[in-house]
This record gives sequence, C-alpha cells and structure tokens, in this order.
Amino acid sequence: MEKVYGLIGFPVEHSLSPLMHNDAFVRLGIPARYHLFSVEPEQVGAAIAGVRALGIAGVNVTIPHKPAVIPFLDEVDEQARRIGAVNTIVNDNGRLVGYNTDGPGYVKALEEEMDVSLDDRRILVIGAGGGARGIYFSLLSTAAERIDIANRTVEKAERLVREGDARRSAYFSLAEAEKRLAEYDIIINTTSVGMHPHVEAQPLSLERLRPGGIVSDIIYNPMETKWLNEAKARGARVQNGVGMLVYQGALAFEKWTGQWPDVNRMKQLVIEALR
Ligand code: ATR
Repeated sequence: MEKVYGLIGFPVEHSLSPLMHNDAFVRLGIPARYHLFSVEPEQVGAAIAGVRALGIAGVNVTIPHKPAVIPFLDEVDEQARRIGAVNTIVNDNGRLVGYNTDGPGYVKALEEEMDVSLDDRRILVIGAGGGARGIYFSLLSTAAERIDIANRTVEKAERLVREGDARRSAYFSLAEAEKRLAEYDIIINTTSVGMHPHVEAQPLSLERLRPGGIVSDIIYNPMETKWLNEAKARGARVQNGVGMLVYQGALAFEKWTGQWPDVNRMKQLVIEALR
C-alpha cells in the first residue's frame, strides 16, 4: 500500500517540500506520496492523534508547530529536545519519534556546498531565535573553535550561550559584532532580515569583513539577498538558504526511507520553483 507522508504547519501552502519528496519517491521507486496539511495551532494534538490513527508514515513539522508537537510524541531525540523543536516525525510501527533535521541540515549544507571543514573555524551566528537555536546546537557538535552569537536583543544571545557552551561561545550586540567581524571565518545570518518583501534590509554591516571568508544566509527568498551580494563584492564566498532547505529535507527523507535522495536534483527543483 502507498505510504503517506506530509507536512503539518500553519500556513503550509507555499512549501517546496512536496516537490522535493515526491520527486525523490518517484525516482527511487518508493510507493509513497507527500501531502500538505494545514493545521491550526489549537489542533496540533488532534493532528498528531490523526497521524497515529491514519497510520501516516512520517511528517515534517513547520512553523509554528515545531515546539508544540513535542508533548504528543512517544520519544524525542536528544538533540531535538535540546533545541526544543521537532521538524521530523517518524512513525515507527505506531511509535512516534521526533527529530530535528534543520540544524544538522544547515551544517551539512555548509560543509558540502562550500566544501569546507568546520574544524578549528571561528563562526559568528547572527540571531538568537528559533532558526538560530538549531544551527547553534548543531555547530556545537562540530570541532569549530568558536561559535559566537550576535543578536539585536543581547539577552537572548546570552541565554542561548548559557544553554550551549560558554567556553566556546561569546555573545555580542550587533554593533559589537560588526567591529569584530574580521575575527571570523564563517558568518551566518539566521534572522529574517533581508527576506522578501523587505529586501533592502541587512542584518549586519559587512564593512570589516575579511576577504576569503564564508558568508551564509538561511534566507532563500530571494536567493540573492542584498547582504550576500555585498559579501560577494567584498571577496567572500557566499551561500544562500536553499542548501539548508534541501538538506533538512534529505535528512528527513533518509530517516523515513533509509535511502539518501539525489540532493542535487532536489536543489535543482527548488531553484527552478523559486526563480
Ligand atoms: P525564527 O524562528 O525565524 O528565528 P524568531 O524566533 O522570531 O524567528 O527570531 C527572529 C530573529 O531575527 C531574532 O534573532 C530577532 O532578533 P530579536 O531577538 O532581537 O528579536 C531577529 N530579527 C528580526 N527582525 C530583526 C530586525 N529588524 N533587526 C534585527 N534583528 C531582527
């Protein structure tokens, strides 16, 4: 029987996940379909009960339900628990297990797309919200030398560092981080600053950027933010958010099927859809 997978979130209409997963199912000859499920916040528990009752094989979870699904699951992977957010649920014979592939997807995309080892690197994460949490905790599992956090609301960066690893991480205001920019090999924007439709905005001044570093943004709409274009003009290698989107999907796909999809094909589909 065809297996059912899907995405629960609110809203979900513009998600590119069905495109990636359904294509990979077809190409790998897996009898399965990925659907969008728009779930209002007060229906999250009922939706998870529905996953059980209907025998849905697995779901992704997106904004705003990533933290909310946790109490309804049978088991939550340690890293997802630490992040406080689940984006992938595996239905293992009626046992619902939650994972987070966002942070690991980001790190894998960074390593693979930029062909870089994170060993001994000095990394600056801009932002301390939901997106930053997954990325920060995943970066802590690498051999990076420093993973500092800069945020508009400094207290939020401080809290994240306290939860993480205060020996490897410092927290800064955005202004302070701008002054120290030359210290970093990799600079990552996890905020929504520069996202459509506010495309003129930039998360941090790149005036003191050291040429030859990596500047990475989790935004994929637009694929070329003003900030990334400026980084490129200042001699950095740049990466947009398409890689994270694709790799979080590929890692979820692997958890569900045991197979690694063709990520380049997934990426191509996403890029075509975003153009
Ligand atoms: P997400 O889950 O997408 O990360 P979030 O939890 O609301 O969303 O976090 C948004 C991040 O973008 C935060 O780091 C936020 O900074 P604050 O903690 O100070 O709110 C940052 N952010 C959003 N709009 C911003 C702006 N105009 N300037 C600077 N930072 C901004």
